[in-house]
Order: sequence, then structure tokens, then C-alpha cells
Amino acid sequence: MPIIAPSFLASNFLKLEEECAMVHNSPAEWFHLDVMDGRFVPNISFGLPIIENIRKTTNKICDVHLMILDPGNYAAAFKKAGADNLTVHIEACPNLHRNLQQIKELGMKAGVAVNPHTPVSLLSDILHDTDIVCLMSVNPGFGGQKFIPYTIEKIKQLRRMIDERGLSTLIEIDGGVTLDNAASIVAAGADVLVAGSSVFNAANPVEAIKAFKAV
Ligand code: DX5
Ligand code: ZN
Repeated sequence: MPIIAPSFLASNFLKLEEECAMVHNSPAEWFHLDVMDGRFVPNISFGLPIIENIRKTTNKICDVHLMILDPGNYAAAFKKAGADNLTVHIEACPNLHRNLQQIKELGMKAGVAVNPHTPVSLLSDILHDTDIVCLMSVNPGFGGQKFIPYTIEKIKQLRRMIDERGLSTLIEIDGGVTLDNAASIVAAGADVLVAGSSVFNAANPVEAIKAFKAV
């Protein structure tokens, strides 16, 4: 069964406490928290104070996805705010190995996110230092976009790379995940499904999460 990570970018910020309680009381395992700086991606979302408050509502995994430049400058601050997983973009990190070591030394799981145009083969020499690979199945910056079908090939390729090396790196898929495509994403080898609009815009978000668990 896949791990489900509802993305709070699609939540109702005016009812954030209720949204947190809903996910906390659902079968979803992770809280996916998208941080954007208006520079790495053309949008600005939320940052440390919001995450610090979300952290207080749950003991589930806080999975923080940094879509920011120079993420290493903020790793300690996100640890302090309560992040369990910290994911940085390969495209934003000229010294990725150093960033991953830093994240792990701070006591967090280290994630690497890759944009749709970035080949998974670029992870070849860093995979054994990576706890989570977040494959972007849309261009990062916005919720509610359409899943890019070629991502399925990338999942299969990455699954092979991880299995060949005998690693336990998790494959997380982020963007445009719906109840219609979730089964094929899991069949291709994904471990974690991020779902924003398809959870928070559902008539019954908890039922949607349950349906994702059952794909
Ligand atoms: C996009 C974010 C995603 C986004 C997913 O840049 O990283 O986590 O919230 O939203 P949906 O599921 O609506 O595509
Ligand atoms: Zn995300």
C-alpha cells in the first residue's frame, strides 16, 4: 500500500487547524508541506511559522518540499520548525552531496526532488545518500496541474536503479496525482503519493485518502 502525503498547498488556510485534524485522523501517513520562494519557482507559498504551527497538530511525518534556492541556508531552521523529511531540488543544489549530509546530520531524512526535464540518471552517484527521491510529475510551483505521462517511464527507470543497488530509497510522486492515475503510478514502482487538489478539493477528503490507500 502506498504512503499517502496530502499536500497542504491545496488546503483551506483559513481552516488550517481543521485541515490538519482531518489529515491527522485519516489513514494518510505524511503531511506534505510545499515551500516556495518566488525565485526557484514562480510562486510563493508559506514558510517556517506555518510549518511550526502545523507541527504542533500532529505526530505524523512532516514532509517538507523546498522549492527554494540555496536550501542549505535554511536546513537547520526547518529542522527547528519540525520537519522530519527535508527535500531539496537537484536543480537548486550545485553541492547536493553536502546538502544531503547536512540534512542527515541534523537528524532528518534527506530527499532529492527532480523536475520533469531532469533525467533520473543524474541521480546515479547520489542515490545511496538519498532517503527519498521526489519525482515531479508537473512543473513545480502550482497545485492542480495535469500529470505528465512520461513520469511513468521515469518511475520504472528509478525503481530499477534503486533495486539494482539494493537500496531502500523511497520514490515519491508529486503533482497531478488522482484516483484515476494512482494505480498506474504505484504499479510502476512508486512508494509515496503526494495528493493536493485530489484530496482537499474532494467532497469527502478522508474517503479520498482511503481510496488512495486502496489503489
Ligand atoms: C507543486 C507542489 C505539489 C502540489 C501538488 O509544486 O510541489 O506538492 O501541491 O498539488 P496537486 O496534487 O494538486 O497537483
Ligand atoms: Zn510538493
